[in-house]
Amino acid sequence: MEHGTFITFEGIEGSGKSTQAARLKAFLEEQGLEVLVTREPGGSPIGEQIRHVLLDPGNHGMVPLAELLLYEASRCQHVEAVIRPALDRGNAVICDRFFDASTAYQGYARGLGIKMVGELNLVATGGRKPDLTIVLDLPVEMGLRRLGRNLDRIEREAVEFHERVRQGYLRIAEDEPDRVKVVNAAGTVDDTFSDVKDLVEKLISPKKVR
Ligand SMILES: Nc1ncnc2c1ncn2[C@@H]1O[C@H](COP(=O)(O)OP(=O)(O)OP(=O)(O)O)[C@@H](O)[C@H]1O
Ligand SMILES: [Mg+2]
Repeated sequence: MEHGTFITFEGIEGSGKSTQAARLKAFLEEQGLEVLVTREPGGSPIGEQIRHVLLDPGNHGMVPLAELLLYEASRCQHVEAVIRPALDRGNAVICDRFFDASTAYQGYARGLGIKMVGELNLVATGGRKPDLTIVLDLPVEMGLRRLGRNLDRIEREAVEFHERVRQGYLRIAEDEPDRVKVVNAAGTVDDTFSDVKDLVEKLISPKKVR
């Protein structure tokens, strides 16, 4: 029986997802929890091979629907082989991007539409939603500037593409306010983590809510 807690981080490139996921792992371990940090695309050996295809800058001919289906294939493998078993063991699972990324990138920014993406997300995950999704929000230019390295295929998209992704995430948060929370990620790592920690504490110890 599944009884672990499932938390996902979302946000544009360079918003601090990996940084905050690592901070949250340390915090939850201090609370005595077993924590698995994983990521999409990837997170399983098969998924990591799909990740390589998705992010390869040489694959400029990839059509949007093929891109979406590769993300969903990676996700399906990830949920079945990694996430569900960990939740069944009672672990906390922190995932660096999950299905909301397909809604934001392929649904909103690429224009495939959120209806089809939502249906495929449902199929790929078997309906398992995160208990909490944290959208790290900051201006696009600030995120891209933070990366300061060679950009992968998705990161090389025009600034306006990333702007559509950002707006897509904000729409997702409006549509599912109970699950999806927006955190300002333009401040320091500590500032951001303070807000992340507040949200997670409310989730794991609801009785302590002020
Ligand atoms: N609040 C912050 N202020 C300044 N720099 C930060 C902050 N958070 C993270 N960084 C730095 O910005 C860069 C991007 O952060 P990180 O890799 O965590 O983002 P990400 O959202 O995981 O990015 P990607 O989309 O590329 O996976 C890293 O070099 C990280 O050290
Ligand atoms: Mg990252």
